[in-house]
Amino acid sequence: FESQIGVNEKLQKICQLLSDEVEYYNWVGFYFKNGDKNELKLGPYVGAETDHTIIPYGKGICGQVAESNQTFVVPDVYAQDNYLACSIETKAEIVMPIFKNGENIGQIDIDSHTIDPFTDADTKLLEYICNKVSEII
Ligand code: SME
Repeated sequence: FESQIGVNEKLQKICQLLSDEVEYYNWVGFYFKNGDKNELKLGPYVGAETDHTIIPYGKGICGQVAESNQTFVVPDVYAQDNYLACSIETKAEIVMPIFKNGENIGQIDIDSHTIDPFTDADTKLLEYICNKVSEII
């Protein structure tokens, strides 16, 4: 019956798996373009509740990735001017865009309580995840 579960349940499972398996992944979630508006809407996530359920394009790390179409690795969030704090425990963040038919439709966002934790292995893992997500949505 696995194939009958909905997209949001699959995305929720991906968040849970990543946050369970990688100790320095402390918040894992998805944002998607909100209809035809120039804003992101929070999708499934695991971790602390966030006030940032809607993020206008250009705002914060997520909003910048919505416009740049590029992965944004932030080793130290306190060094960023254009940053939206979700939790005071967060020290680092990685946001990777998800493309469908060449269009940037959303992103995976990971916050870490560890400073400068992300390596090429994280980028490779998340590229794999983003490609899979693109196939199922
Ligand atoms: N830190 C993000 C906002 C989302 S929360 O981390 C969940 C940003 O600056 O866009």
